[in-house]
Amino acid sequence: MSFIHSTVENRVARIEISRPEKKNALTGEMYARLTEAFGAAARDPQVRVVLLHGSRECFTSGNDVSDFLQRKPGESSPVFGLFQVLPAFEKPVVAAVAGPAVGIGTTLLLHCDLVYAASDARFQLPFVPLGIVPEFGSTLLLPRLAGYQRAAKLLLLGQPFTAQEALEAGIVTAVVAKESLFEEAGKAAASLAALPRESLRLTKRLMKQGQAKELQAQIAEEGRLFVERLASPEAKEAMSAFLEKRKPDFSRL
Ligand code: COA
Repeated sequence: MSFIHSTVENRVARIEISRPEKKNALTGEMYARLTEAFGAAARDPQVRVVLLHGSRECFTSGNDVSDFLQRKPGESSPVFGLFQVLPAFEKPVVAAVAGPAVGIGTTLLLHCDLVYAASDARFQLPFVPLGIVPEFGSTLLLPRLAGYQRAAKLLLLGQPFTAQEALEAGIVTAVVAKESLFEEAGKAAASLAALPRESLRLTKRLMKQGQAKELQAQIAEEGRLFVERLASPEAKEAMSAFLEKRKPDFSRL
């Protein structure tokens, strides 16, 4: 069963994350499907814009924690495919975020162009509390976007933050009422789809190309440390504690 649904209508490719029973947690298989969906949208001349969303209740709780624990040391994840395809994606990407947007649920937004958040959206970058390190270039992009101190608060403490705080940090474009989230994001996608495609493509490229190489290098370095930290006792304790619904105990580590 696929948890990633992709449809094209009126020049907009909608990519939906749908695994409600696990709060849209992303498995290796789901990253592979997401990467394929973006690849297909890039190649399809009918597609002018991508609209990425979860449900009206939840964007995504981030990487599936059981998947993290089951991975063999050094084994790489299909997430690396998404790390390639999304930063290089030339068409505009609009994201609609409601409810939890945890881990990669927040970091992938740094690679989207317009991000609409429902007022109930809750963001979190819990990499340090999980004993790992941030990914997807967020250690480069977030300090540039939000300023060092604000980024440090979000990335070092790893506490949840509101849609309003995400707006102030520059992670989201606008905060809208929960009921009108999909409508607002859909309107933005339709507006982009009606614009001259080559001007859009070139403008996006001009905004991104200055840091593209640096970003790839940072994603690779974060990825190397991330895989290393996943094998650490702290990460195993933090992730087991989440699945066992208890507080982690790092006192002896
Ligand atoms: N990986 C695996 N399972 C997850 C998950 C994840 N990232 N996020 C949620 N789930 C599972 C829960 O274990 C639970 O499963 P169960 O019903 O079999 O017990 C189910 O999804 C519902 O989650 P729950 O925690 O009860 O929902 P909530 O509304 O109370 O909280 C979140 C939602 C997203 C705030 C919370 O689930 C959470 O913090 N998830 C972990 C996020 C995380 O650490 N992600 C990794 C980032 S690198």
